[in-house]
Amino acid sequence: MAPALLLAQLLFLGALLVPAQAQAEKCPQLGNATEGNFSVTVTPGVYQANTTYLVEVKKGTKSTGEEVTQYVLQALSPRNESLGTWVEISTENCSSVHSAVLNSTQNTANWTSPGTNVSSVQIRAYIIYTDKSTKFKTVTLSRAPETTKSPSTTPNSVPTVRSSSLFVAVLQLPLLLATGKLLS
Ligand SMILES: *[C@@H]1O[C@H](CO)[C@@H](O)[C@H](O)[C@H]1NC(C)=O
Ligand SMILES: *[C@@H]1O[C@H](CO)[C@@H](O)[C@H](O)[C@H]1NC(C)=O
Ligand SMILES: *[C@@H]1O[C@H](CO)[C@@H](O)[C@H](O)[C@H]1NC(C)=O
Ligand SMILES: *[C@@H]1O[C@H](CO)[C@@H](O)[C@H](O)[C@H]1NC(C)=O
Ligand SMILES: *[C@@H]1O[C@H](CO)[C@@H](O)[C@H](O)[C@H]1NC(C)=O
Ligand SMILES: *[C@@H]1O[C@H](CO)[C@@H](O)[C@H](O)[C@H]1NC(C)=O
Ligand SMILES: *[C@@H]1O[C@H](CO)[C@@H](O)[C@H](O)[C@H]1NC(C)=O
Ligand SMILES: *[C@@H]1O[C@H](CO)[C@@H](O)[C@H](O)[C@H]1NC(C)=O
Repeated sequence: MAPALLLAQLLFLGALLVPAQAQAEKCPQLGNATEGNFSVTVTPGVYQANTTYLVEVKKGTKSTGEEVTQYVLQALSPRNESLGTWVEISTENCSSVHSAVLNSTQNTANWTSPGTNVSSVQIRAYIIYTDKSTKFKTVTLSRAPETTKSPSTTPNSVPTVRSSSLFVAVLQLPLLLATGKLLS
């Protein structure tokens, strides 16, 4: 009887403690984050509506040897509003910002942009380390220039490339002839 009561008391205590802890784990404190020296890649690299992006965080080395406990990803408009949706990831409302919270085993996530044109999106990645220190890094996705305009932005480089490859071809011709003679 006594062990059963003890067990029931432990379970009750556990039920009280777990939600508080889960709350803390779900929305880590990001307020004191400083810019980190790690890399965040977002592909493709330009903003398009209705597009799914792959966001990958590569943890940098931290001199103190702390381990990563969580990653937090956010997508924000220039006015700091949450944009788009994180695909198949639990998201939390962290100080009003829609945040994807990943555990240390996941460092990639898919994000789908909204169906509207936005001038730019800032992807913010946070790494939370075992010592509770937090580092962040941002990547800004801007709209691609109009597709009809983009070839005209580099008109001068094309002839240069052509003439230089012609130059290389002229240089290679005697070499080719020489090797041709050697082979025959
Ligand atoms: C942020 O840093 C200040 C000063 O170091 C500290 O007092 C405060 O508790 C920290 N806040 C969080 C959420 O870590
Ligand atoms: C960031 O990391 C790279 C490579 O690990 C290193 O070369 C560079 O000095 C670091 N930069 C800072 C500001 O720590
Ligand atoms: C957006 O949030 C960042 C970080 O919290 C802040 O530094 C920046 O001033 C905010 N920008 C606007 C337009 O509110
Ligand atoms: C997120 O939380 C803030 C307060 O913490 C609240 O004002 C806001 O309405 C919440 N947003 C959503 C989408 O739940
Ligand atoms: C991390 O999250 C993934 C997907 O939600 C889950 O399968 C995995 O067990 C989690 N790992 C840890 C250590 O919590
Ligand atoms: C992201 O999407 C790609 C393509 O659909 C898929 O291969 C990949 O597994 C997804 N990654 C995650 C972390 O959901
Ligand atoms: C995005 O998709 C929605 C629904 O499929 C569509 O109504 C909307 O026009 C699309 N937006 C763009 C910019 O293609
Ligand atoms: C988004 O911008 C593109 C190019 O500027 C335009 O063709 C498209 O109609 C726009 N879509 C919406 C939903 O505004």
